[in-house]
Amino acid sequence: MAFLRIAQVGHPVLRAPTREVPREELLSAEFQRFIDDLVDTMHEANGAGLAANQVYRSVRVCAIEVKDNPRYPYKPNIPLTILVNPKLTPIGETKFDNYEGCLSVPDLRGVVPRYAELRVQALDRHGGEIDRVVRGITAGTFQHEVDHLDGKLFLDRVADTTTLCTWKEFARHHESGFRERVKAIVDRYGS
Ligand code: NI
Repeated sequence: MAFLRIAQVGHPVLRAPTREVPREELLSAEFQRFIDDLVDTMHEANGAGLAANQVYRSVRVCAIEVKDNPRYPYKPNIPLTILVNPKLTPIGETKFDNYEGCLSVPDLRGVVPRYAELRVQALDRHGGEIDRVVRGITAGTFQHEVDHLDGKLFLDRVADTTTLCTWKEFARHHESGFRERVKAIVDRYGS
């Protein structure tokens, strides 16, 4: 088990688009260990997801998992998912407002419009095909992580900068209202 350092906003590694991982490299023992370390680091930091370039490795891989997350107590659970070379395709035009934070952006949250339904195509960590649809708050998490792999941060997508807030002020002024909106989204999309 190894914990990796997490790059912080301003480091160029977060801004460079990542390269795709060939199957042979993916299946190597070294790369499989890297994926284990990525997952361990996500768990240690209580992240809902972590992209490889957030730990200074510029490859198109991210981990996503939500299991009663203390940073995001209102998020529906997502089983551990590794996406390799992911491609997201929105289904329809419907968007919702997601209040996001990021392990690479300390103590800041903001509202980001996200597609409510997506097709996800990727490889899993063993090279198997993933082709599924994700919805609602879960779709927001997938978009946040794949944005990282394209060199984008949630900050780039905050449409109304007056929504930016620290985690303390989020809890104090915005969390209860956002929880109501999350409930409506989960009721509608089931996740
Ligand atoms: Ni992030």
